[in-house]
Amino acid sequence: MSTEERAALSEAHIAVHWREEGYYYPPAKFIGQANAADPAIFERFSEEHFPECFKEYADLLAWDQYWHTTLDTTNAPFWKWFVGGRLNASVNCVDRHLAAGRNRAALIWVPEPEDEPMQVITYQELYRRGNEFAALLRHFGGVEVGDRVTFHLPMVPDLPVSMLACARIGAIHSEVFGGFSGAACGERIADSGSRILVTTDAYYRNGELIDHKLKADQALARARELGVEVDKVLVWRRHRGEYCSKTPMVEGRDFFVDDVLRDFRDQLVEPVSMPAEAPLFLMYTSGTTGRPKGAQHSTGGYLAYVAGTSKYYQDIHPEDTYWCAADIGWITGHSYIVYGPLALGTTSVIYEGVPTYPDAGRPWRIAERLGVNIFHTAPTTIRMLRKLGPEEPKKYDYHFKHMTTVGEPIEPDVWRWYHDVVGKGEAVVVDTWWQTENGGFLGATLPALHPMKPGSCGPGALGIYPVIYDEDGGIVEAGAGRAGNICIRNPWPGIFQTIWGQPERYVDTYYAKYCRDRSSTDWRDWPYFAGDGAVQAADGYFRILGRVDDVINVAGHRLGTKELESASLTVDEIAEAAAVPVIDELRGRAVEMYVSLKPGVRTSPEIEDKVAKVIETEIGKIARPKNVWIVPDMPKTRSGKIMRRVIAAISNFSDVGDVSTLANPEIVDDIRQQVQAAKMARGELPRSLTAEEAEEIRAFGHLE
Ligand code: WT7
Repeated sequence: MSTEERAALSEAHIAVHWREEGYYYPPAKFIGQANAADPAIFERFSEEHFPECFKEYADLLAWDQYWHTTLDTTNAPFWKWFVGGRLNASVNCVDRHLAAGRNRAALIWVPEPEDEPMQVITYQELYRRGNEFAALLRHFGGVEVGDRVTFHLPMVPDLPVSMLACARIGAIHSEVFGGFSGAACGERIADSGSRILVTTDAYYRNGELIDHKLKADQALARARELGVEVDKVLVWRRHRGEYCSKTPMVEGRDFFVDDVLRDFRDQLVEPVSMPAEAPLFLMYTSGTTGRPKGAQHSTGGYLAYVAGTSKYYQDIHPEDTYWCAADIGWITGHSYIVYGPLALGTTSVIYEGVPTYPDAGRPWRIAERLGVNIFHTAPTTIRMLRKLGPEEPKKYDYHFKHMTTVGEPIEPDVWRWYHDVVGKGEAVVVDTWWQTENGGFLGATLPALHPMKPGSCGPGALGIYPVIYDEDGGIVEAGAGRAGNICIRNPWPGIFQTIWGQPERYVDTYYAKYCRDRSSTDWRDWPYFAGDGAVQAADGYFRILGRVDDVINVAGHRLGTKELESASLTVDEIAEAAAVPVIDELRGRAVEMYVSLKPGVRTSPEIEDKVAKVIETEIGKIARPKNVWIVPDMPKTRSGKIMRRVIAAISNFSDVGDVSTLANPEIVDDIRQQVQAAKMARGELPRSLTAEEAEEIRAFGHLE
């Protein structure tokens, strides 16, 4: 069964046992300077004013030709925004800021080695670099309007330069997360039909200079197997003029960008004026198995949406110093490191390495040194920093006015540490719920106008009207205390346009489930199915429970993994927790918990006991874990998400599959040995799984 089918079949009656959390209010100082501080904004974006309300976002951009139709639904659900408009994304992110702020910092790049100087790239310099690389792509690479160009770049300034260069000449960039394998990159090259790969020789990660170019050769081999031949590999160099990879350059195919750029020095390229609906980029989702899903994002709608949400939700002003510690290889980085912040003309910080290198004080040193006042990261990073350096933030003199969290539900306990310790009680916290497919935030509080509630993302964002449906399409009302499938009733400018080359899959995955009439051109008939379980409190705030297919069905009770994990984290000693299903003769499935401890805490059976007990009291006897495993660390993706399928496989003695793309593949064997030996000793012997069971475990958590 495919993940789509599983999602379609899954009933969303996930048990909900969350305790209501109290409100936190934004500091007066924040409210006094906020971009959105007047509640009249809610009226402007009310449903009655849809879709015209989004003119407010479109008007943040410079248009070569103004649009005539806000939203065209004639080919539903392939929405078209700002039809008739023409613009260029690189002009909007760079050129138009030159007059007022030519020498303001656009990007500040922080290399991982702490003794290597930071690189400040002004808007003028970004303009120059973007133009030169655009000229190179066009004249040396032969790239034309609408061509796809794949990047496999880590967190180096060459990545935003490459993105903006593509945008300048109307080419569609497709950045593959630098941590992905060569093979994964090759599959995405083939899927998008790119003839050019832009990569780098090496980058620093965790103190090590990692050879990256070797992945390019693997990528090209994989793409060739899939029938796509790459003409040119353009290799940026981490240290200009010095090649730091062991892989030989292939004559006539591989070129050092810094060499070739000499021929394009100081060249300017006339930006191509693109229709609003022209694709700006593809972003492959950290998807399921099978063919990768390239989410195709538009130029006008996307850019308007990320500019608008950056302004109101991130509260970005041009004079701010904004640091989003995500990777540009993910949608968060595209929208909220590059396009959104640069569209607003602010200073965006890019950090090359891992946040805990060389120690857990690093992010706070960066914040102090640069005067960062807006900080944006993911719960997994927050948990890691809390685990390794709970007292570190206090040692540094930085002051955030605003902090974002994104990527997964944040446990209230972790939220409070973020707010109290990282934010020093001075910053608003905005929990932003959205997806690769969405372009920008869907659920979040408007920081000066809504109180915060730990663990809840808040209400729908401006102009976004969410609804929770049960399996039969009935509405689960706010305050009902029941979870269901969260959907968005309306299209919005940031929504992706299609899955590249797979329009049927786009309709089937995201719209088929609750579509009222396939022939309708009325957007009201096409709710967007997000695939997340959620519950809405009486105050209208949504709490996301995670993917609807991430539930553990114990004797007919559907338990959300996040709830089990949140309960575990209320045990003082626990730093991280992951819940997985284990096939159980009696109960169908039972819960197993994996936990890691805060530093300095010793493993003990008492801790296992505490976890089991708290789950029993918070959620119920039915959820009592069959085993609690205290492990040194969790297997994680390079974006920091716990790979539940890997530990689920270990718990069920099944095949862990490909773990090469993990951030810490070596942990898998350690955990396997520990857990499986203990299981054997307890008489929990391996048994062979049926094909369906094996598939269920393999797809659990369904990341990558
Ligand atoms: C899935 C999307 C959005 C960019 C990064 C992830 C989960 C995301 C939150 C949040 C609870 C969240 C959802 C969603 N998610 N943000 N604030 N609270 N859950 O993008 O890889 O496309 O993942 O991440 O389950 O569907 P993605």
